[in-house]
Amino acid sequence: MLFDGMPNLVVAATGARLLVNPGLDRNRPYGEAERAILSLEGARLAHSTISAWPGYAATPVLSLDALAAASGLAAIAYKHEGRRFALKSFKALGGAYAVERLVVQRGSAEGLTVTCATDGNHGRAVAWGASRLGVKAVIYVHETVSEGRATAIAAFGAEVRRVPGNYDDAVRASAEAAAANDWTIVSDTSWPGYDLIPRDVMQGYAVLAMEAEEQGAAPTHVFVQGGVGGLAAGVLSWYWELQGAGRPRVIVVEPETADCLYRSALAGRWTAVGGDLDTIMAGLACGEPSQLAWALLAPGADAFVTIPDARAADAMRDLADLGIAAGESGVAGLAGLRAIAGDAACRAALGLDGASRVFCIGTEGATDPVIYREIVGRDPEDVERMSA
Ligand SMILES: Cc1ncc(COP(=O)(O)O)c(C=O)c1O
Repeated sequence: MLFDGMPNLVVAATGARLLVNPGLDRNRPYGEAERAILSLEGARLAHSTISAWPGYAATPVLSLDALAAASGLAAIAYKHEGRRFALKSFKALGGAYAVERLVVQRGSAEGLTVTCATDGNHGRAVAWGASRLGVKAVIYVHETVSEGRATAIAAFGAEVRRVPGNYDDAVRASAEAAAANDWTIVSDTSWPGYDLIPRDVMQGYAVLAMEAEEQGAAPTHVFVQGGVGGLAAGVLSWYWELQGAGRPRVIVVEPETADCLYRSALAGRWTAVGGDLDTIMAGLACGEPSQLAWALLAPGADAFVTIPDARAADAMRDLADLGIAAGESGVAGLAGLRAIAGDAACRAALGLDGASRVFCIGTEGATDPVIYREIVGRDPEDVERMSA
């Protein structure tokens, strides 16, 4: 169904909403303004740094042939970040890389304390990056971050502080503590006057697009989930600078209750969403887009999709049947694709057809095994054993 007077907005029977980006300017070159945020050169530096870390391996790109056939597509490639270092999420590429850049720029880790707010994965990455280099870390979590995720952060030696409110309240609490104690904020989101470190975080994320390219993925469409938009911007920047107007279409998927990027696109300007942002997709429960990320997504992302939680749970179970253990936020891109792929108006709006090769970024494994079991009914180890 197309919305009256809004030919670029479609609601599918699955409950997903699709907005073709009214601000999209596909022919705009990737110029100096964009390169000042993220660049191929920066991505290559991040790649050479991260690939030298002990335990590094490119995460696998899995071919989901049965799901592609069921959705009437030529191929779905799924990059399984559940196998990223010991962290089970792509966030290792961002937070830990930014901590290393900080230490390199300062010339030493001596006396350095880093802090950030997190829904789970970014804090785990910063804590891991800090522990690798002997840096102290104080990580802020908000009231609905699961105990399992908080414990996983503390396991890397970080101090974990729980604060009332949502993710954006935790961002403010960590910023206040940093100012009071002379700590350095390693945030995955940027705001006016704070953008150098989030740039390194996003630049680290572009490494996964670079790996996928080396692994032979040549997509026509990329479905990538959005929290503050840093990952989506990192991935978009790689394709945009490399391939210009010939790049794949990039579609950003969010939970319907935490849809700040979708709403920003609808309003034509940076827009915040309030409330408790309640969703099972904990890593995407963000109400305020990163300013830097939005500067790239506003003219460069092709479309924005929102999905109900039930679609993410369906995708987790479908992947489990294929021997892939993926977390609630990790499946969101794939869930968004599947939620719109059966709708003729959505397919037409995005040019999805039997020749489309879709790249989905499976951004996390079962980062909270207790929640995973509640949703899927099996332990993640048992699921992955099936595919071993
Ligand atoms: C598993 C997972 N996927 C995706 C995202 C979204 O990344 P961003 O906030 O940069 O948009 C997050 C953010 O924490 C995450 O944890």
